[in-house]
Amino acid sequence: MKRFTAVRFQFPFILILSCILFNVVNGQTSTDIKQLYTDVFITHQKAVIPNSNFSKPLEVTLKVYLLTITRFDEVDETLDTGVAILTTWNNDGISWNPSSYGNAESIVVSKTDIWTPKLVLLNSVETYEPLGENNDNLGTVLYNGSSSIFLGDLLSSKCKTNIYKFPFDTQTCVLSFVVWGLTHKEVTLTADPYPVDVTYFIPNSDWTLQSYQSRTYLLGAFDILELSLTIQRAPLYYTIMVGCPTILFGLLNPLVFLLPVESGERVGLSMTVLLSFAIFLTMVQMAVPASSNPMSLLLVFMIVTIALSGIIVAVTIYVSSLYYRDPQENMNIILKYFGSRRHRNKRLIVVVPELEKIEKENVKYSTEMNITWKDVCDGLDTYMMVIYYCIIIFINCLFFIIVTV
Ligand SMILES: *[C@@H]1O[C@H](CO)[C@@H](O)[C@H](O)[C@H]1NC(C)=O
Ligand SMILES: *[C@@H]1O[C@H](CO)[C@@H](O)[C@H](O)[C@H]1NC(C)=O
Repeated sequence: MKRFTAVRFQFPFILILSCILFNVVNGQTSTDIKQLYTDVFITHQKAVIPNSNFSKPLEVTLKVYLLTITRFDEVDETLDTGVAILTTWNNDGISWNPSSYGNAESIVVSKTDIWTPKLVLLNSVETYEPLGENNDNLGTVLYNGSSSIFLGDLLSSKCKTNIYKFPFDTQTCVLSFVVWGLTHKEVTLTADPYPVDVTYFIPNSDWTLQSYQSRTYLLGAFDILELSLTIQRAPLYYTIMVGCPTILFGLLNPLVFLLPVESGERVGLSMTVLLSFAIFLTMVQMAVPASSNPMSLLLVFMIVTIALSGIIVAVTIYVSSLYYRDPQENMNIILKYFGSRRHRNKRLIVVVPELEKIEKENVKYSTEMNITWKDVCDGLDTYMMVIYYCIIIFINCLFFIIVTV
């Protein structure tokens, strides 16, 4: 019985002592905060815009925290980003005297306890749900009513793609936010002096963030917050997987002119190269938007290369037909010119030193008489190979100069 009274006597003393200790260490106790919450938020009408003077709009300050660039899809023309927006405004319905609540100058409350601006991504491709609507965010309210909350989400936005210089392209995407339903007369948006923060940004390995900026402007009746991002593609993958095979096949293709016609492999080889090009074109087509304005220069480059490869097939077939032509058949002047190549070289080496005084016309006449179909084929092969190499090197250089400059 004696023991029991002793405990009963000690209990209030411990409570008072702990209260004093808490006050010294933390400034306020949970009792203070609970009392503050009861006093301020139970009667708070969060449905009403917390404006003191309704002839002036409520000023909302925004600061964008760019968190990730998850994906950029050129075919769908969408950019997936992780964005948080620090939203600050003055909540006029809330204020308290800190000294009445253990010097509590701020309180952390659920988003559902206060009015929050409903920011909506205008160029969203998935939903017009307000930013961070599904998260039960916590907001901070200061004793003078100044409130702030982080609204964040993973966003998919429409972004017009320009793949002219693919895969050396840069894309500029804009994310436009608006306070859904509230016009410029009710709410104005202001960008923070440091409008974009990338402290928490996690880089993407396919795209590097080149530049970013944020501003607010009036569009029609609504204030818009605009975040624009410029991202640059890492071109290595497409350069190796598409560019190198195209260039290598392009350089391999004219070697068919070195194959002897008798081997019978010429048409086969040139067709194989043509088909390989077609496969690579399909690969590039899948990576590039199907309907875009302007078209990707890489596709144009590949189609020109395929066209040249097709010409090679045609020339190869034509040369094979010339090779087996009847020797008695008449030769036209162009084919004679191609066929005379070998003889002109011979004349320089053999004929000229011995018969210097013979008239040139006679020499020409005699060589022309000896031109065979084999000579014509040989000449055509050499000319076509040289011309093709010049064209392919010129096109490759032109492509890389246009695309990288
Ligand atoms: C509200 O704002 C208007 C315009 O600035 C001003 O004329 C008016 O006096 C203000 N009213 C109060 C009660 O402050
Ligand atoms: C409220 O108090 C904070 C900190 O003391 C201050 O930065 C802010 O400007 C105040 N807001 C208003 C509306 O007075």
